[in-house]
Amino acid sequence: MRAIVTNPAKKNSVKLVNLPKPVPKRKEALLRTTCVGIDGTDREINEGLYGTLPEDSDHIVLGHEALATIEKIEETTSGFSAGDLVVPTVRRPCQENCLNCRTGEVDMCLTGNYFEHGIYKLDGFASDYAVSDPRFLIKVPEELKDIAVLLEPMSVAEKAVTHCFKIQQRTRWKPKKALVNGAGPVGLLTTLILRLRGLEVYAAATRTKDSQKSKIVNCVGGTYVNVVETPITELKEKFDIIIEATGNVSAALGTLDALGANGILCFLGIYREKLACEEFGKVLTSMVLKNQVIFGSVSSNKTHFETGVEDMLKIKRRFKSVLNQLITNKIQVHKFREAFQPTHEEIKTVICFD
Ligand code: BGC
Ligand code: ZN
Repeated sequence: MRAIVTNPAKKNSVKLVNLPKPVPKRKEALLRTTCVGIDGTDREINEGLYGTLPEDSDHIVLGHEALATIEKIEETTSGFSAGDLVVPTVRRPCQENCLNCRTGEVDMCLTGNYFEHGIYKLDGFASDYAVSDPRFLIKVPEELKDIAVLLEPMSVAEKAVTHCFKIQQRTRWKPKKALVNGAGPVGLLTTLILRLRGLEVYAAATRTKDSQKSKIVNCVGGTYVNVVETPITELKEKFDIIIEATGNVSAALGTLDALGANGILCFLGIYREKLACEEFGKVLTSMVLKNQVIFGSVSSNKTHFETGVEDMLKIKRRFKSVLNQLITNKIQVHKFREAFQPTHEEIKTVICFD
């Protein structure tokens, strides 16, 4: 079968290879991949900045954002049948089976010894076939077939928003305004989720006001801010929620002043530059005097994928084909390299296996 693999120890080693079709163990599901989405993490693994090979392997199959159909499964115990449309979650429990891993919160693993399909010590789904433990599969309604490949990044956004609301139970809180910094897939999906929750949403990015990203934000009733024209530091508004999804340290620090009293700010990026924060004392004092929360969030668990399915259905009803507009490039497997050299206007590139 065809598989897209790389070796994080060798920069830009992504290639298409032929691998034996996997044989599922008892109780495992055999999946036939429909398509995979490619994101910054896949590109970073290929650039040798991230990712770890599975044990005893010289490559890792990429692809942690997948949509597949079940080819074969033991029907009696799993609740799934052959032909079901599914999206696999990314993380698998740690060897120690820590408190969080054993209670369904693998995304909050305490030991760091978890596994991640296509990222960390486990092959991903960018291959004609793959296997998975059915306990980590999410059933997807046919109605979402053309957009369900976005469910994994959607789950990351759902976790961030859910955690904001959970943490804020510390006080009486009726959030009205949110700022989403960055309009990649996760930023845009967060914008959609927050609009569904009834918030006024500002989404900030560097693309022009006639870009596809700006159009998506406007079409769901959000306000698009081109930070080249209007830096966030010049915005007059104060926000109850800020979601930082640029992964850029200066852009992230630039949002701190826009956080209002009792506000909450969530960091979602991997911030690679080592940059000093000027006046960090001022930041800390402001956090104290305004009762603010700043937290980080990574990955997601089954509950976030399930909320993602519900929200995708709601978004489809309310905002029609907006989710389809996030998928800007659909390519066949043999053109996989294009996914690793994104164009300026790209939002999500999807590689199709069928
Ligand atoms: C994935 C997460 C994963 C993270 C870090 C992201 O791209 O969406 O599921 O935990 O990378 O490996
Ligand atoms: Zn764990």
